[in-house]
Amino acid sequence: MRHLLSTGDLDRDQATLILDTASELAQVADRSVKKLPTLRGRTVVNLFYEDSTRTRTSFELAAKRLSADVINFSAKGSSVSKGESLKDTALTLQAMGADGVVVRHSASGAAHRLARWVDGSVLNAGDGTHEHPTQALLDAFTMRNRLGRLEGLRVAVVGDVLHSRVARSSVLLLTTLGAEVTLVAPPTLLPVSVHTWPCEVSYDLDAVLPKSDVVVLLRVQAERMRESFFPSVREYTRNYGLDGERLGRMPEHALVMHPGPMVRGMEISAEVADSPRCTVTEQVANGVSLRMAVLYLLLGGS
Ligand code: CP
Repeated sequence: MRHLLSTGDLDRDQATLILDTASELAQVADRSVKKLPTLRGRTVVNLFYEDSTRTRTSFELAAKRLSADVINFSAKGSSVSKGESLKDTALTLQAMGADGVVVRHSASGAAHRLARWVDGSVLNAGDGTHEHPTQALLDAFTMRNRLGRLEGLRVAVVGDVLHSRVARSSVLLLTTLGAEVTLVAPPTLLPVSVHTWPCEVSYDLDAVLPKSDVVVLLRVQAERMRESFFPSVREYTRNYGLDGERLGRMPEHALVMHPGPMVRGMEISAEVADSPRCTVTEQVANGVSLRMAVLYLLLGGS
């Protein structure tokens, strides 16, 4: 494995290896070993053309915990504002010795294009509405930690599937690992290609909730949305928002997940977001171990 561009590129053994490596690295962290020397002398570039809180900082922390040098590049304040292209920017960073490039970009396919231009490994940190592989991996890692397995798990992915890069990555990864995924959304927030995806589709959240072991809520991405796609906030929340009453209809062991950032009061009520059944902060913590595992396997592993 040289790049991580899509969870669809991972077979079951490769995906399991990433999750198992993350478990081992989490145990190392638990034993208070502050840093591993694994990536000493390697350089990781965080190349972010879109805003990020969780992904950028956890990739930075993960690379530093493996002793890599880290360059944080944000398009804002760079020569991108003078018209420099993604390719020229990437080649410039490569000339400075980047071994790995973590890229987030608003264009679907940007990470794949970058992988053709640079010599080092490319890690897709979110490309447009296409994929977000490390988010799907850290979510699967969290499910496996909490529920002990992925095989046979019934996972509902709920909300703005149309604009979500997490949804596609999660469907591809979770089905590879033996889970059964149902996408739940209003018809206007589903891509036309959804019936070719390896999952079930439902418009009825209340029918799906009692049968779900995990509910992954997606952020409604207002910034990517044309008005015609969007039901009113009140209508969306009434039909697809997870509140305390709906949480009560889920099995007692079932988890509520969200990749963040959450829009409280819309896709998730404050009561649910703050409940012990909601794993949002645990997902963030797991993101560091998972991204350490990916960097280790791509840049330093055997
Ligand atoms: N989940 C996620 O990708 O969050 P950020 O946009 O903050 O990185």
